[in-house]
Amino acid sequence: MPPVIVKRRTRGCARRVPPLGSYRQPAPRTTPAARRCPIATVASSGNSTAQALQFAESYVTEDLVLRTARSLAREVGVDAVTPGAGAALRLLAAAGNARAVVEIGTGTGVSGVWLLRGMRPDGVLTTIDVEVEHQRIARRIFVEAGFASGRTRIITGRALDVLPRLADGVYDLVFVDAEATGFTACVDAALRLLRPGGVLALNGTLAGGRIGDPAARDVETVTVRETIKAIRESEHWIPALLPVGHGLLAAVKC
Ligand SMILES: C[S@@+](CC[C@H](N)C(=O)[O-])C[C@H]1O[C@@H](n2cnc3c(N)ncnc32)[C@H](O)[C@@H]1O
Repeated sequence: MPPVIVKRRTRGCARRVPPLGSYRQPAPRTTPAARRCPIATVASSGNSTAQALQFAESYVTEDLVLRTARSLAREVGVDAVTPGAGAALRLLAAAGNARAVVEIGTGTGVSGVWLLRGMRPDGVLTTIDVEVEHQRIARRIFVEAGFASGRTRIITGRALDVLPRLADGVYDLVFVDAEATGFTACVDAALRLLRPGGVLALNGTLAGGRIGDPAARDVETVTVRETIKAIRESEHWIPALLPVGHGLLAAVKC
């Protein structure tokens, strides 16, 4: 593993926004309909949509520690959250002034660092992963990012074995980023763990782009589809499906 030297940083709010560099936003298509409706502007061209999504993903940039965690994720075959999804997680943590967060799927710590940067300075991230090796890297990344060891509780094990041991109704945010087949059980657990007003964030809810394709009937897509439908129809959640990264479903517990 390469040595990592990074500037210590704490919460996102205290940081300067990095310059956007030389990126130039494409000129919008200017049909009358497009001028009336910004969505029509984006929908009018696949190329513009792709550029706009790319711009959104790179709007908040990653520092050396996040780039290192991402590169290590690739090395061990972990699909880390994208920068756009990471920024959304930081936003959710900061908006909720989160002190207690549960993460299912530590990976090499990319999402964990984003979450910690949005949480209160005294907040604790409880992060669960079945792979010791992933967590060994994540532990080092959290230290390199400047977080004291007391800011993270790293638990090795299968989510469904660990979650029952966590306390009811005390968590501000639960982030689920593991196999889709476990989504239903993780959502049930999140409902128990979160305080009222707490937020569930479920990653991968665009099912690799297949979510809107009625012909896609593979197990993963069907599971994701059923899970997000159940959340939308539940009286316990106020949801929104954010099209960042692989799709981030965010839902507030009523
Ligand atoms: C997509 S990666 C997480 C990436 C991480 N959230 C990030 O952005 O850096 C999924 C992780 O979930 C872990 N995992 C898979 N199934 C699990 C389970 N049943 N319980 C706990 N962890 C699991 C894998 O070992 C892997 O590290």
